[in-house]
Amino acid sequence: MRALRVHERGGPQHLVEEEAAIPSPGIGDVLVRVHVASFTPTELEWPSTWVDRAGRDRRPSVPGHEVSGVVTALGYGTTGLAVGEAVYGLTDWYRDGAAAEYVAVEARNLARKPDRLDHRTAAALPMVALTAQQALFDHGGLARGQALAVLGAGGGVGTFAVQLARAAGARVVAVARPWANDLLRGLGAEVFVDVGRAPLPEVDLVFDLIGGEPLRRACATVRVGATVVSVVEDPPVEENRRGRFFVVEPSRPQLQELGKRVLAGELHPVVGSVWPLSEGRAAFEAKHRGAQPGKSVLLVTEES
Ligand SMILES: NC(=O)c1ccc[n+]([C@@H]2O[C@H](COP(=O)([O-])OP(=O)(O)OC[C@H]3O[C@@H](n4cnc5c(N)ncnc54)[C@H](OP(=O)(O)O)[C@@H]3O)[C@@H](O)[C@H]2O)c1
Repeated sequence: MRALRVHERGGPQHLVEEEAAIPSPGIGDVLVRVHVASFTPTELEWPSTWVDRAGRDRRPSVPGHEVSGVVTALGYGTTGLAVGEAVYGLTDWYRDGAAAEYVAVEARNLARKPDRLDHRTAAALPMVALTAQQALFDHGGLARGQALAVLGAGGGVGTFAVQLARAAGARVVAVARPWANDLLRGLGAEVFVDVGRAPLPEVDLVFDLIGGEPLRRACATVRVGATVVSVVEDPPVEENRRGRFFVVEPSRPQLQELGKRVLAGELHPVVGSVWPLSEGRAAFEAKHRGAQPGKSVLLVTEES
């Protein structure tokens, strides 16, 4: 099969499209013929890109942990999905990802793809929808009428978080670089703050997608009683504020529910750009250069 792989640690310049063996589905897995895959730009910095769960070097690695495609085979003991079904979901960080013609995935991490949800939208959904849902509500406890600030709001997770919070009746302050201003206001942000310039208005919850200096500044100025949730690093909050770092969990029920809301037209995953698999390296490089709205997706197999 054709696969985007990385043999050497470092940036996206090391990604190559090449021939690789089709993976075998393990116990509880399905083998998926990939139609569209997506990725998180920072994947090449994750330890799990380089080693398996036992800590053994697993290079060359296939990136891209979001998939939409069709089941072509079942592993031993796999139940709940059948050959020929269209599915979408997250793939394991410690195993080869979906930037390839086939990927082996635990069936329980996938949901059935409704016919009306196209493969591009379905591939753009799992990481951003699950991360935003879990950050705002499971970890952040966001409630109607509260104010939320999203740091790094213009990318994949941020554009979805802004919409989820608005739909829940929260007021949203989008913190991003100036290129994302119109996009984020269009998605429902009430206030736009240029990350490098203005201070944060008073909010109940900060959702951080940047880390580093912007997160430190937010933690230093957020009001007593507020919560800071980050998916990048531990928030250095001061006394009487709550700080929480977490890693997204696959969840079929949450994904199904959010997929229904996308189909109902209530939420719109932002697919900023579509690249053929053969240009996977360019897709990663463009995201690293910045100013790419929402998710970038990789078209692997012609959509039916
Ligand atoms: N722990 C978890 O479970 C989990 C889950 C999902 C994502 N994440 C992490 O969350 C982060 C965001 O993911 P994503 O998929 O949304 O990435 P993304 O699409 O690249 O979005 C990141 C956004 O943050 C902005 N940004 C980055 N550095 C910035 C800075 N110093 N100042 C201002 N804006 C900055 C980027 O703007 P520019 O384009 O202008 O640079 C971009 O719009 C990544 O670090 C990812 O690894 C973690």
